[in-house]
Amino acid sequence: MKAVVYIKYGPPEVLQIREVEIPTPKNNEILIRIYATAVNATDPIFRKGKPFISRFATGLLTPKNTIPGDVLAGEIEAVGKEVTLFKKGDQVFGATGGGFGAHAEYISLPEEGALALKPANMTYGEAASICDGALTALPFLRDQGKIQRGHKVLINGASGAVGSQGVQLAKYFGAEVTGVCSTANLDLVKSLGADSVIDYTREDFTRTGQSYDIIFDAVGKSSFSRCKRALKPNGIYLTTVLSLAIVRHRLWTSLIGSRKAMIMFTGIRPAKERAEDLRFIKDLAENGKISAVIEKQYLLEQIAEAHRHVETGHKKGNVVVTLDQISKM
Ligand SMILES: NC(=O)c1ccc[n+]([C@@H]2O[C@H](COP(=O)([O-])OP(=O)(O)OC[C@H]3O[C@@H](n4cnc5c(N)ncnc54)[C@H](OP(=O)(O)O)[C@@H]3O)[C@@H](O)[C@H]2O)c1
Repeated sequence: MKAVVYIKYGPPEVLQIREVEIPTPKNNEILIRIYATAVNATDPIFRKGKPFISRFATGLLTPKNTIPGDVLAGEIEAVGKEVTLFKKGDQVFGATGGGFGAHAEYISLPEEGALALKPANMTYGEAASICDGALTALPFLRDQGKIQRGHKVLINGASGAVGSQGVQLAKYFGAEVTGVCSTANLDLVKSLGADSVIDYTREDFTRTGQSYDIIFDAVGKSSFSRCKRALKPNGIYLTTVLSLAIVRHRLWTSLIGSRKAMIMFTGIRPAKERAEDLRFIKDLAENGKISAVIEKQYLLEQIAEAHRHVETGHKKGNVVVTLDQISKM
């Protein structure tokens, strides 16, 4: 099968297209023919092996899993002897759960992985694209933020993969949502349902005089120190991006003060919980509560180009990679 392979960390050129063996599913595994995957914001980090801490997930000196890619949508081609949750022909979407290998034509994954039936109204590309953003924004807002109907929620980086799903999920939970993005993305963020938008190139959202129950910094660009003044008493600051400051603030605010700072790493949540979330996300998609935001589509052979675009840090929503199956998109 065709796969993206990298055997050392480095620039986008380390990503090569190779022919490799199709994996054989173990007794508890399903073999998925992948029709679409995506390049997420974390993929270039794993490719570079920088910051160094990322190598605890991918291998200290060289990548231990040489096929990158975390999210996918495709069709089940074969199932192991003990598989009961899925059958051949099922259309599925999900994530590899840190094992990577989704930038390839086939993957074998445990049936109890972060997988669910694909939303019936979505293409493979759309389904693959929402996995990272929705599987991130959902536990942040619901589990850490304890989002409630009527909450005032601000989402910084509302035009990114996590932010665009965050806006839609916060609206679903009944919040009053403010999205922060640049001028070019104001219409996009409004179209996702944001009640108001703030253009970060013109206005500092921490100095508008408004205060929020939850500030979800989906792109990790505004620290707790800055956001604190825009949080209501008992307000919660959430960030997706690890820094020394958030570690310090997380610890400090867990001990004193009413405003809390939090971070989580959604990729390491138990697969069972992530699969449940995918089923929830599927229902939301099928009921028109969330939709995909896809800026660009690349072929697998254009993977280096896709990485170059993603690592600008300015993609709109998602970058999808198709596996020569444009007709199946
Ligand atoms: N902790 C976790 O479990 C977890 C899980 C998934 C992802 N992440 C991390 O979450 C972060 C966001 O991921 P993502 O996929 O949403 O990223 P992304 O799609 O690459 O974010 C790009 C978006 O961010 C916006 N942006 C850039 N600078 C901004 C700023 N200063 N203020 C507001 N918006 C800004 C850009 O809009 P403009 O072009 O208009 O600037 C662009 O639309 C990444 O760092 C990723 O590694 C963490």
